[in-house]
Amino acid sequence: MKISVIGCGYLGAVHAAAMAEIGHDVVGIDVDAAKIAELAAGRAPFFEPGLPEILTSARDSGRLRFSTDMADVAGAEVHFVAVGTPQRKGENAADLTFVNAAVDALVPYLSAGDLVVGKSTVPVGTAARLADVVAPTGASLAWNPEFLREGFAVKDTIAPDRLVYGVAAGEAGERAKAQLDEVYARALSNDTPLVVTDYATAELVKVAANAFLATKISFINAMAEIAEVTGADVTQLADAIGYDARIGRRFLNAGVGFGGGCLPKDIRAFSARAEELGRGDSVAFLKEVDAINLRRRQHVVDVVVEELGGQPFEKKVAVLGLAFKPDSDDIRDSPALDVAVQLHGHGANVIAFDPEAMSNSARRYPQLAFASSASEALEGADVVVVVTEWKEFRELDPAAAADLVQGKIVVDGRNCLDAAAWRAAGWKYRGMGRP
Ligand code: UDX
Repeated sequence: MKISVIGCGYLGAVHAAAMAEIGHDVVGIDVDAAKIAELAAGRAPFFEPGLPEILTSARDSGRLRFSTDMADVAGAEVHFVAVGTPQRKGENAADLTFVNAAVDALVPYLSAGDLVVGKSTVPVGTAARLADVVAPTGASLAWNPEFLREGFAVKDTIAPDRLVYGVAAGEAGERAKAQLDEVYARALSNDTPLVVTDYATAELVKVAANAFLATKISFINAMAEIAEVTGADVTQLADAIGYDARIGRRFLNAGVGFGGGCLPKDIRAFSARAEELGRGDSVAFLKEVDAINLRRRQHVVDVVVEELGGQPFEKKVAVLGLAFKPDSDDIRDSPALDVAVQLHGHGANVIAFDPEAMSNSARRYPQLAFASSASEALEGADVVVVVTEWKEFRELDPAAAADLVQGKIVVDGRNCLDAAAWRAAGWKYRGMGRP
C-alpha cells in the first residue's frame, strides 16, 4: 500500500519505518529539514533500539522516503497524522496547533477515497471535527491510537498488543476499516485483537489507558509513602498484591515516579478536557495521581539532602540517570533530570551520567556537570543517587563503586539495585518505600 506519515517525531518516524519494513511504500513528511535529512540518510534522530536497523533496510529496499514537501504525499492512499500534541504553555490542556496545521496542509493533496488516519493523542471530540475538515475532498477519516512504549517502539509498532480503529458510521466507516485492515494485514494475520469503534471511543481508549497506567504507578507510590512511615517494604507489597491476576505485578514499581512525553501530559489534558465537558469530577482523582507523582521527585531530593546532613551546598552528588526511563534518550518531563536540577538548585555539586540522554540534558540545562561514565560520576561523590534504572547501573559492582566514592551512601530512586549486595559492600542503602 502507498502510505504517507505526517510528522516524523518519536511516533511518526517509527511508524513510517515500521510500515516500510512490513512491505508498504511509505513517505514520511516533517517540517523539520534537519530531522528529515537525518532520517533520509538512514539515521534515527533519537535513541530507539532497532530503529536505525529498520531505517536503513527500508531505505535500501526503496520503500521509504522522507520529505519536507507535503506535495510528496501524492499517490498515497492512507495518510497517518502523527504530529505532537504537547501540553499548552501554562495550561493543562493539549495544544492542537500541530494536528490542525498538519491536516490543513494535507487537505489540498487529498483525493476522493483517501483515508486520513489520526494517530496523535488528542482530546475527545477532535476526530469528529477533523472529519468535517477533510470531508469536502471526498477523503474520509479514522482514528487509530498508538500504544507504543519508547524503548520498545519498533516491536510495539510491528506487533502491537491490540489495534483500535475509530471510524465513521456506515459505508465510509466500512471502507476505512477495509483500508486499515490492509495496512495492518500482517498484525491481523497474527491474531492481534482488534476493536472497531466510533471516534470518541477510540480517542478515549488512548487517554484512558495512559490514565490507568499513571494511576497504577501513583497507587504504588502512595503505598510507598505509607511504607516509609511504617517500616513496610513496598517492593514485597507489590509482589504480593501482584500475584492476584486481577491486579498484576506490572507497573507497580515504586520510585521517583513517571515522566516522559505521554503519561504526565496525557492525564493533565484528560482532566482539562473532562472539565470542558462538565465532567471534571469524574476524573478529579487524576489531579491526585499527578500530585503523588510530583511528590516522589521531591522525596528523592529530600532523602539526598537528609543524607548530606541537611547541608547539600558544594557536596558532590553523583546522579546516575537522566532519561525518563531506560533505553531512551528522552528527557521530556523526566523525574531523573528534575532531581538533578533540583539538587543543583540546592547548591550541590551535581555530576550526572546517562548512557544516552546527556546531550539532550546538556542542551536543556547547560549549568549541570556531566561525567563521561558512571565511574567518573562516582569519583569522590558524597552521595550516589540512581534515578533511571539502566542495565549498566543495575549491574554496578558495589565493591568497585565503594572504592571510588567519598561517602558510601546510595539513594536508589528506582528500587533497582540489590540492596543486600550494596549493604554487604559497606554502603548505606536508601530505597523508596523500603526500610
Ligand atoms: C507510555 C505508555 O506505556 C504507552 O502505552 C503509550 O503509548 C505512551 O506512554 P512510555 O511513555 O514510553 O509509554 O513509557 P512507560 O514505559 O509507560 O513508562 C512511563 C513512565 O512510568 C516512566 O517514567 C517509567 O519509569 C515510569 N514507571 C513505569 C514507573 O515509575 N513505575 C512502573 O512500574 C512503570
